[in-house]
Amino acid sequence: MNVYDGMRIAAMLRARGMTETSELSDADIIILNTCSVREKATDKVFSALGRIRLAKKPSALLGIVGCVAREVGSGAFRRVPELNFVLGPQSYHKLPQILDNPDSPLLNIDLGGLEKFDEMPQMDSSPAVAYIPIQEGCNHVCTYCIVPFTRGREISRPYADVVRDTKHAAQTGAIEICFLGQNVNGYKYENYRLSDLIRAAATLPKIKRIRFTSSYPTEMTDDLIEMFAIEPKLLPFLNMPIQSGSPDVLKRMNRPYSLDSYIDIVNKLRVARPDIQISSDFIVGFPGESDDDFQQTMDIAQRIKYINSFTFKYSPRPHTAAAIMPDQVPENIKKERLYKLDAMLSEIQREFNVSCVGKTLECLCEGADKTGKHTIYRTPYMQQCIVNIDPNTAPQMAKIKITNANKASLRGEFA
Ligand code: 5AD
Ligand code: SF4
Repeated sequence: MNVYDGMRIAAMLRARGMTETSELSDADIIILNTCSVREKATDKVFSALGRIRLAKKPSALLGIVGCVAREVGSGAFRRVPELNFVLGPQSYHKLPQILDNPDSPLLNIDLGGLEKFDEMPQMDSSPAVAYIPIQEGCNHVCTYCIVPFTRGREISRPYADVVRDTKHAAQTGAIEICFLGQNVNGYKYENYRLSDLIRAAATLPKIKRIRFTSSYPTEMTDDLIEMFAIEPKLLPFLNMPIQSGSPDVLKRMNRPYSLDSYIDIVNKLRVARPDIQISSDFIVGFPGESDDDFQQTMDIAQRIKYINSFTFKYSPRPHTAAAIMPDQVPENIKKERLYKLDAMLSEIQREFNVSCVGKTLECLCEGADKTGKHTIYRTPYMQQCIVNIDPNTAPQMAKIKITNANKASLRGEFA
């Protein structure tokens, strides 16, 4: 979502005739698009601001947008007096105000609107993956999570607007559509659901791949699961965070599903699409998490065989219930658990990657690798596959035979 917001902001400034610069000292406006989901991310914003204010031109405008702006509000101006604007995740379309009126500091951290989607210029799709936000905010109140505070209650965009943006993306070069939302499978607009949006996107001949992120387990309804059976353009990959494998921890996290009901959903998905791969987010060291609780997380990760997962040490956040729960877990234990879980997940990933060797997969070009000499492709399971071909001549979609694999990526050649 932040990558999308960043692209949208860049498009808005380009439409006003601005161009990008890689030199801080050359910039007329510097915007930090921020995340506050963990404390470290918030801290990084303020250390970056400390460096930037020394390096920037005195006349350059400096501001933060996104969740840290919403978290800290006017306090940001007190911490960094050089700031010119502080705009929350639903107010960044107000940015032109500071350009027109650079001498008055601008603060807007309001919630509840879809205004930003309507007020900003449409963005052409380049590269081939188009991120399309369909809903924002979250009605689940997980006790560790600051998102309901920073992005507000769930709000779904009108069906017609999403379809219009999807068509525009297809017309301007998109091959893959990624529907976005904090609780993307909670999409509800009149009688329309996420399955309707997938069906609409799939009718567009230029669109070859469709995915969505991030999903809440209990909102994986049957109509959506069925899409994996009937819509071949829907990728066989799903991020569906379980967060913990311990029923006690899940309860304290206010994630009211049982392990059985979660496993049930995974089984249904695997019936619908036998090769589907599931990814998860995990939090270790949630308040009160015992060794036994943690072991249950290890057990479920092994049982589901998650790939492409994200793991985090629990980080207490303001405005959340878990921050004031007793039995906060010491940092060294969190670190140890994170290390163990990461090691296991990376072994599972390696096994899956190795199981792909010899297969031919239809992949999407992502661009050049770090050396600039090879091309990175994405498999339908979202693995990176490096192909020894000049990025300038690489086709956007290609059938690639996987020749080699390690825990981080695959190697392949055109089939
Ligand atoms: N501490 C650690 N991880 C968190 N996440 C959300 N809030 C916190 C927190 N306070 C993780 C969850 C979520 C992902 C986006 O970030 O795993 O799925
Ligand atoms: Fe946060 Fe996701 Fe829980 Fe919503 S469902 S409160 S975004 S962790």
